[in-house]
Amino acid sequence: MATIAVIGTGYVGLTTGACFAHLGHDVICADIDEEKIARLKEGQIPIVEDGLDRVVAEALSAGKIRFVVGATNASEHAEFHYLCVPTPQGSDGRADLRFLEAAAAEIGPSLPANSVVVNKSTVPVGSTEVVAKHLDRPDVRVVSNPEFLREGTAVQDFLHPDRVVIGSSDQEAAIRVAALYSKVRAPIMVTDPVSAETIKYASNAFLATKLSFVNAIATLCEHVGADVNDVTLGMGYDTRIGKEFLKPGPGWGGSCFPKDVAALARIADDYDYDFALLREVLNVNEAQFQRTAQKVIDALGPDPSSKKVAAWGLTFKAGTDDLRESPAIEVLQRVSGSGAQVVAFDPAIPSEIPQLPLVTVESDPLVAAKNADVLVVLTEWPEFKFVDFDQLADQMRGRTVVDGRNLLDRSTLKRRNFEVIGIGR
Ligand code: UGA
Repeated sequence: MATIAVIGTGYVGLTTGACFAHLGHDVICADIDEEKIARLKEGQIPIVEDGLDRVVAEALSAGKIRFVVGATNASEHAEFHYLCVPTPQGSDGRADLRFLEAAAAEIGPSLPANSVVVNKSTVPVGSTEVVAKHLDRPDVRVVSNPEFLREGTAVQDFLHPDRVVIGSSDQEAAIRVAALYSKVRAPIMVTDPVSAETIKYASNAFLATKLSFVNAIATLCEHVGADVNDVTLGMGYDTRIGKEFLKPGPGWGGSCFPKDVAALARIADDYDYDFALLREVLNVNEAQFQRTAQKVIDALGPDPSSKKVAAWGLTFKAGTDDLRESPAIEVLQRVSGSGAQVVAFDPAIPSEIPQLPLVTVESDPLVAAKNADVLVVLTEWPEFKFVDFDQLADQMRGRTVVDGRNLLDRSTLKRRNFEVIGIGR
């Protein structure tokens, strides 16, 4: 078993560290945030992530994981160094590598001889070289090992991945990183670093393309009178298409897809290739936010400023408390802009959020719905399906539900005289 330093304790770093510890490695997780580290030492997880608290607690009590402040305090003791720092979108669409470069420059001098630095952050093609330059350690190999962790199912995705991708120009370093996953049952693919980095971007961009395609098909279904749920079911039986990632919605978001699609388009630009398809994928998504908001505004009828909208869901998807690039926020900003009063409920968001200064947040879905003219569902939290719909009918002033996730049971609502406006049906 190896000693692994993990630099950065966001959802990728923390999941990576906790899961490597679960696999039997000795892990030291580092972050610059002292308060976060103090809480992690107590087993307190700062994010909503299914199963992560249990894996961290087990690793802590088995003495397999430690939390320290400062990257060098972790790296000087380890053989492998996973860089899991943020790579936000810069103002020009390119990934901002500031944190990655700083982390590499910081740990470089104190790395034990012949250790391996692993890029887990999503980084532009060619970043393995950038990290190597900032480490300034010719004896240390830099390997790309992109993550394919979905928020909400990150632990499951780490321990039961579809594949592990390792990008290295050094065969021995690749084999050493592959050995870290010896207890994981998944194909391990070794390639050159540039291909590994491209696999990560291409995977996210393909999934985003699939979703924009489905949302465009949903719009077409509305025009021709087809039901998108049946259309995607019929498509999904074709194993070449696959059943996953075919659910239409109010648009897609999160901390990864929007920035990665934009970054890939920029990478193509940098090589004088106009990746017009990706720009259209982003355009369709913007249009989907607007279409969903317009359905709500239309349902309010004349004088929206005298009306009230109840919104269920604020996070970018269910199972997380992450609000970054949330389609729900995009839609509600537009709905608020019409002048309507908006009251929201989300099981993971306890109070008002700065992105929606005019939106009140309640702690109960029925309280949020009180006197509402229209209810809009924006995140696919399963608990929304089990709300008491008799009480919902009593609470609301109007009888319109805009179901932005096609989540609620239509016949249940129709029996209570609701009009249901879905996506693509
Ligand atoms: C995504 C990828 O799925 C992961 O493989 C990747 O590792 C991760 O980004 C990353 O780069 O770190 P995540 O951002 O957690 O994971 O979210 P997804 O589950 O992919 O969902 C993204 C968006 O698409 C959400 O807004 C979600 O609601 C939407 N979506 C997803 C749909 O509208 N319909 C679907 O059928 C699936």
